[in-house]
Amino acid sequence: MTGRTAPIALLQFGTSGQLGDALVRVLGEDDRFACVALSRERADFTRPEEIERAVRDAARLDLVVNAAAYTAVDKAEEEEPLAYRINAEAVEVLARSCAARGVPLIHVSTDYVYDGAKSAPYREDDATAPLNAYGRTKLAGEEMIRRHLPAHVILRTSWIYSGHGRNFLKTMLRLGRERDEVRVVADQHGAPTSAMSLAMAIRAIARELAASPSFGTFHYADGGETSWCGFAEEIFRQAGLRARAVPIATADYPTPARRPANSRLDTAKISQTFGVRPPAWQSSLAAVLAGMKETGK
Ligand SMILES: NC(=O)c1ccc[n+]([C@@H]2O[C@H](COP(=O)([O-])OP(=O)(O)OC[C@H]3O[C@@H](n4cnc5c(N)ncnc54)[C@H](OP(=O)(O)O)[C@@H]3O)[C@@H](O)[C@H]2O)c1
Repeated sequence: MTGRTAPIALLQFGTSGQLGDALVRVLGEDDRFACVALSRERADFTRPEEIERAVRDAARLDLVVNAAAYTAVDKAEEEEPLAYRINAEAVEVLARSCAARGVPLIHVSTDYVYDGAKSAPYREDDATAPLNAYGRTKLAGEEMIRRHLPAHVILRTSWIYSGHGRNFLKTMLRLGRERDEVRVVADQHGAPTSAMSLAMAIRAIARELAASPSFGTFHYADGGETSWCGFAEEIFRQAGLRARAVPIATADYPTPARRPANSRLDTAKISQTFGVRPPAWQSSLAAVLAGMKETGK
């Protein structure tokens, strides 16, 4: 793929989610890419033949990016077979289809493949041991890709939020306007990651892959670390809300799915390989809040 002058022909799965929406904006506005983005209506991951057909029939194709996934972490505890169909079986079909077409795949995975027991940030070669059903299905999807498609970039990321869709940021903005105090878990640590900065990292990787292929598993998270409570505090501060984030323990906020206490991801490898330098999570948050203000969200 060297010496290219034509735009990179990219097929994207998942358009309506946080990352899908950010990718549509980041890649769609960049004339170095010719993107086709398929929603669930056009490629339903519970009907893998639609994935196979889309990859096979694309007129020009250099790269596939997958932003579609089953992401309902708590619901997955009672719907693991459905989550597995979408996050593992469909991903296997996607990987096989890319291999048959001879194109690489950028796929997004999660910090929830780890159990969170490590005391330092996770590195890509640390042992995986998901604590919940969602994490198990995402890990199975990664394994399918490794088995069928050497030309892959698997990006494990954490705590995605955006001005689009339902997420922690939106919930905190709502609660922060309604209440004086919001109780938030303070013993899970990680880095909030803006869907937009993840999309920009994917764009940078897509361009690097076109010039010099480097494949494997990588971490991407915005820079720095905090707890959910620290994230909430910063949201209130930047949004000018008077609400106070009150720290509580995970044990005081029981959820169907267990979550890792340590979600911190070491991002040295992605920086060294692709030159991707994650912005501080606080500045990504400021950019997202500014974007929401601009669009009246
Ligand atoms: N959110 C997080 O905090 C987080 C953290 C770590 C990793 N990740 C990973 O990051 C990636 C992007 O997550 P996100 O936050 O953008 O997720 P999201 O907002 O929940 O979006 C999920 C996307 O997947 C699509 N989808 C769901 N079921 C589908 C199906 N059967 N067929 C086709 N498309 C389907 C959804 O389409 P509809 O709108 O039609 O349902 C939506 O476009 C995922 O791989 C996720 O596992 C997320």
